[in-house]
This record gives sequence, C-alpha cells and structure tokens, in this order.
Amino acid sequence: MKTLVATILACASLVTFNQAAAAPIEIKFSHVVAENTPKGQMALKFKELAESALPGQVEVKVYPNSQLFTDSSVLQAMQLGDVEIAAPALSKFQKYTDQLQIFDLPFLFKDINAVDRFQKGPEGQKLLKSMESKLLVGLGYLHNGMKQLTDSNPIRVPADIAGQKYRIMTSDVLQAQFEAVQAIPLKKPFSEVFTLLQTKAIDGQENTWSNTYSKKFFEVQKYATETNHGLLDYMVVTSAEFWYGLSDDVRAKLKAAMDESIAYGNTIALQKDAEDRQKIIDSGKTTVLTLTDAERQQWVDAMKPVWNMFADEIGPDLIGAALEANNQ
Ligand code: LMR
Repeated sequence: MKTLVATILACASLVTFNQAAAAPIEIKFSHVVAENTPKGQMALKFKELAESALPGQVEVKVYPNSQLFTDSSVLQAMQLGDVEIAAPALSKFQKYTDQLQIFDLPFLFKDINAVDRFQKGPEGQKLLKSMESKLLVGLGYLHNGMKQLTDSNPIRVPADIAGQKYRIMTSDVLQAQFEAVQAIPLKKPFSEVFTLLQTKAIDGQENTWSNTYSKKFFEVQKYATETNHGLLDYMVVTSAEFWYGLSDDVRAKLKAAMDESIAYGNTIALQKDAEDRQKIIDSGKTTVLTLTDAERQQWVDAMKPVWNMFADEIGPDLIGAALEANNQ
C-alpha cells in the first residue's frame, strides 16, 4: 500500500502543474438521496465552503437522487476516476472491506451519540483508512439516523414480519438480520424502493425517518414501527488518486470544508430525525407504532444472534470497542 500511495504522491507534482494550467478542478459529488436530507444538505454546504475557500480553483458539482450513479456503481466509478466524492451508506461497502459491516449489526449502538463516540474514537478513525488498498480514502462519517421498519401491515413483534418481503441495502448482515425473523430480504437499489412499495412487489423496508419522508415511502406504507434496530450512517469517500494528486494547500482546504460540512450535516440529521418523524405522523397516511419494552426485547432476542455470524469477519475487538462507546 505504501508503494501505491508513494507512486501517487510521486505523480502529484505533475498533477499539481496540470491543475494550475487547467483550473478550476472539477469535483463531482454523487449521491442517491433528495436534497432536503442530511446528506443532500451536507453536499450543498461542501460546494459552498469549498468554492469560497478556493475561489476559481475548484468547481463542485453535486448530483443528488442517483442522477449520476447508484450506490452499487459509484465506488467502481470512483476507482476509474469518473467521480470524485460520494457518501454511500456504511452498509454498501461490503465488497471493499468486511470491517464496516460492524455498523449493520442490529441493536449494537444504543443511540446516535454512542455511534458518534465510536466513530470519533481510534477504531472508528482507523476504519476510515480500511479501504486505502482499494484506492478509496474515507474523509469522515456523516449521520442520518437510526432505522425503523415500514410495512403495509402492522408489525409489532418478530412473528408479524415472517414471510414479508423487505427491501434491504446490499449487505449480508442485513440479509441475515431479516432472515433471523423469517422475513424475505431483497437487495435492491434505493432508487427503486418507492415503486417496489407502490406496486406491492415488496411489503416493507427499513430506513430512517428522513429517507422515509423525503422519498415519500410513507405515502405508500400504512404502518411504521419505531424499532431503532439499526443504524444508517455514511462514509464520505474519495479516490486516493484524486486526493493525493491535489496540492497540499488545496487538499487541506478541501478537508477543512469537508469537516465543516459534515458537522453541519450532522446537526441537520438530528433535527430531521425528529421533524420528519412528526411530519409522517401529521400526514395521517402512516400510523407510527411504538413498542413496549417487552415487544422490543423480542426483536433484540431474535436479531442479536446475527452478531456471532459476522464476529470473525468484523473482529471481536472492534465489536468490543463499539459496545464500550455505549457506556461512556
Ligand atoms: C438506502 O439505500 O436506503 C440508503 O442508503 C439511502 C441513503 O443514501 O441514505
């Protein structure tokens, strides 16, 4: 890996020379969600901050709503140099590293503050570098929120979900999680979820309040069950070739702009989680079911054995560090 990064750095002076001749540097930021979401707002903030820190030197083009790439094609496109920045959900990196599967383990983190502590701690920071051998560099984590279930039927306990078809992201952990409660998980792109629900090709999906609201899933689902069973967060990634090919000055300014945009996006995530939940309730289209402690415990008991299936791939120490973040 050192040799690879060294080679890229060795080319940097040449690239820097080319940048001076061919400014502004175009930075395409591709994502799949709507603009009125934490990620949508963070991307626009990054454009504003990066262009004002480097006037005339960079141009950031944001492509929301899977306009440019879906999450299943964006990382390969990045490796090929066709896009510079993306922020896929942590569930979508399985082809590139096993370790990020930790974020999909059901009922691992007690809340988003525990997630934040883990991500900011040494293990979380190390994971940002876990794909450098694949030429992908993590620039930071962005929150969306905890996931809830939505369904065309009222779901209170695991027995209610048996036999129901659920759309999931491309993650084997999520597949195992739904199989653990005898549901039928189907890996499908985010851009297809609304139509799959509307046509009743599937019964339900798991997502945050923000995604369920902004993509109008609540208009085609009768029920949402507030389980907070898992996490939907993102890693903002770029390609090593692009990133280390930038001059030190440009890279430092872009990193500062990214850090500030992520902090901004995280504030929006906390607000939207509560606001969009309320908007869904107020719509009267979806009934939000809250669980008793005993009902929720049934989900924990059914889904938690999934941890053992992935502990070796993820690393027991990493799981231990995540659990410690719950207690701080
Ligand atoms: C999903 O596919 O449900 C999410 O990853 C979409 C997103 O980027 O929030």
